[in-house]
Amino acid sequence: MIPKPASQHPLDGSLAIGEKTPVTFHGVAGSKAAQGFARWLRLWMGWRLPTQEAEDPKPNGVHFSLEGADESLGDEGYELLVAPTGAVVRANGEAGLFYGGQTLACLVREATAGAGGQRSIPAAVVRDEPRFAWRESMLDCCRHMPSVAYIERHLDLMALLKLNRFHWHLTEDQGWRIQIDRYPRLMEVAAYRKAENGAPYGGFYTKDEIRHIVRYAKERCIEVVPEIEMPGHSMAALAAYPELGCTGGPYEVGTKWGIYEDIYCAGNDAVFEFLQGVLEEVLELFPFGWVHIGGDEAPKARWERCPKCQARIRAEGLKDEFELQSWFIRRMEAWLAERGRRLIGWDEIHEGGLPPSATVQWWRGWMKDVAVEAARHGHEIVSTPTSHCYLDYGYEEYSVEHTYGFDPIPEELDAAAAKVLGGGGNMWTEHTPTEAEMDRQIWPRKAAIAECLWTPKEGKSWPDFERRLSGFQGLLKELGVRYGPWV
Ligand code: ACM
Ligand code: ZN
Repeated sequence: MIPKPASQHPLDGSLAIGEKTPVTFHGVAGSKAAQGFARWLRLWMGWRLPTQEAEDPKPNGVHFSLEGADESLGDEGYELLVAPTGAVVRANGEAGLFYGGQTLACLVREATAGAGGQRSIPAAVVRDEPRFAWRESMLDCCRHMPSVAYIERHLDLMALLKLNRFHWHLTEDQGWRIQIDRYPRLMEVAAYRKAENGAPYGGFYTKDEIRHIVRYAKERCIEVVPEIEMPGHSMAALAAYPELGCTGGPYEVGTKWGIYEDIYCAGNDAVFEFLQGVLEEVLELFPFGWVHIGGDEAPKARWERCPKCQARIRAEGLKDEFELQSWFIRRMEAWLAERGRRLIGWDEIHEGGLPPSATVQWWRGWMKDVAVEAARHGHEIVSTPTSHCYLDYGYEEYSVEHTYGFDPIPEELDAAAAKVLGGGGNMWTEHTPTEAEMDRQIWPRKAAIAECLWTPKEGKSWPDFERRLSGFQGLLKELGVRYGPWV
């Protein structure tokens, strides 16, 4: 089982579970957990387990209940008792119940086969809760664009690994991937780049597809964090609406990787009208409390020579282009805050100052001070440093064991520990044109990251993880995941 539960104690005896085992839940919150449990067993064992609402457990059944759980378990923790007379999951919230069901599904999978196709699960008590509340998986769907079915399977695996934030990177220099009705040229122009063979490459997720993904995620206790990049990584949008850049273009949707100097003009009010128009539609699609505005890698060359940007610097009494960036991000932060949403951005958003309510996603592993400074200024931190969390990096420098060494609170961040919400794994797709290549980079390393986010630090052990990982390999194989090197 991955991630390893916080505590697990064997009891005497075992419980037989089979395709006739009744699965009951108390209250609607339990329905998600029961479905999530039954789905895996249908896939793995071919069982169609009957699930129904019931106040009390049925003999030899599986029961999910929001009553009687220890309050100290929080919203995501759970207690699972497997006794010879039945299994019961207790939790304080929907997510806790759901994770108890995922754990029980794994126990069934790992159990030895008994009479009549049943599985015999050793009796045990599991008491489990996450080390971190924010456990994300980030996927760049811009450089290359995976299908909706691929994202669904990604969410299935995230749920099994108890990851709870899908960070969906939707806009880039090389392609805009989200339908926005108010700005049709985003779909007509920004969504496509010229591929090496001259043909258009790209596309976008429709609003119906996005609503589907958000719902699919929610059924698995995953919140979707949309990322709309600003002020940099915006060539695709500029190609569609060149008046939003400092020079006015012409621009083309990026065909090379790397960092482009053309970014949104911070001196032009039309840029804010555009971005806020986009975000209005984004907020309708994504109900989660946080919106990611990117904010990384925004070169200042254009702003330095742009009369409008320079006029803004003077009018707002700013010191330089870094303060202009900060002014830009603050303006978006205030706009989001008025609508009850919180801003998260890559760690550059901290340059030049930022209101403490903004969350900073630390990525520049070589700049530890950034995260410590941001925490000192009151920001919450999501930790995804290049040292361990960049799954697009090769396995030679970044083995599974290396990835397993990730700690969202490295020693250098001790002073900031209380502000670290969690972390995750980032998958940038410049060099993975196919889903098979994406799979190879992500798996099995994402499983290592998941354990680093869930399991207590003192419970982690590489040899033990490596052993459990071999069971996970079979699971990936059954799902058709074209995983990468194992060691
Ligand atoms: C990043 O890797 N540019 C956030
Ligand atoms: Zn400008």
